[in-house]
Amino acid sequence: MTENNAGPDSGPFTEIKMKKELITRSSEETLMFGEKFGRDLKKGDVVALTGDLGAGKTIIAKGIAMGMDIIDDITSPTFTLMEIYDGHIPLYHFDLYRIENESELDLLYFEEYWENGGISVIEWADRAGSRLPDNTIRINIEYIDENSRRIVIERPDN
Ligand SMILES: Nc1ncnc2c1ncn2[C@@H]1O[C@H](COP(=O)(O)OP(=O)(O)OP(=O)(O)O)[C@@H](O)[C@H]1O
Ligand SMILES: [Mg+2]
Repeated sequence: MTENNAGPDSGPFTEIKMKKELITRSSEETLMFGEKFGRDLKKGDVVALTGDLGAGKTIIAKGIAMGMDIIDDITSPTFTLMEIYDGHIPLYHFDLYRIENESELDLLYFEEYWENGGISVIEWADRAGSRLPDNTIRINIEYIDENSRRIVIERPDN
């Protein structure tokens, strides 16, 4: 696994963010990244996962669940948009692939979840438009080749 700390990415009009980038060479490495990342999450954290179909969003979500000591195997909540998994901290796993417009999120009471002390992990988070909270941690997964992915993590510095 190659890691690179890009350091604070600040400009006069942008908030300070910590940006970190790594490359994984197998789905197991991505799973392990997710697990390590999931261990450090706190109540109320929101993790936005973006990346094309088959990039590895669900693999990261599975790893996060493992890092949160959740024993259930998590799958994509394709027909429900959201699935709750019980752990010492509840995990709200969203998959917004089927959202056609942001107003559908009203029916899901989207915002209430991260105000509820769980950890939210949102696949296809770009479908949520501007409705994610300011403290959202963003993870983008980019396909490099069949077994390699570039993972870029951006956190607001607060
Ligand atoms: N380095 C890697 N990291 C993650 N996945 C990898 C990697 N190399 C190969 N893969 C494969 O890519 C696929 C990732 O699937 P996954 O379901 O996690 O994608 P996704 O982003 O959730 O897709 P979707 O948008 O359909 O929900 C798996 O088949 C996995 O085995
Ligand atoms: Mg998925």
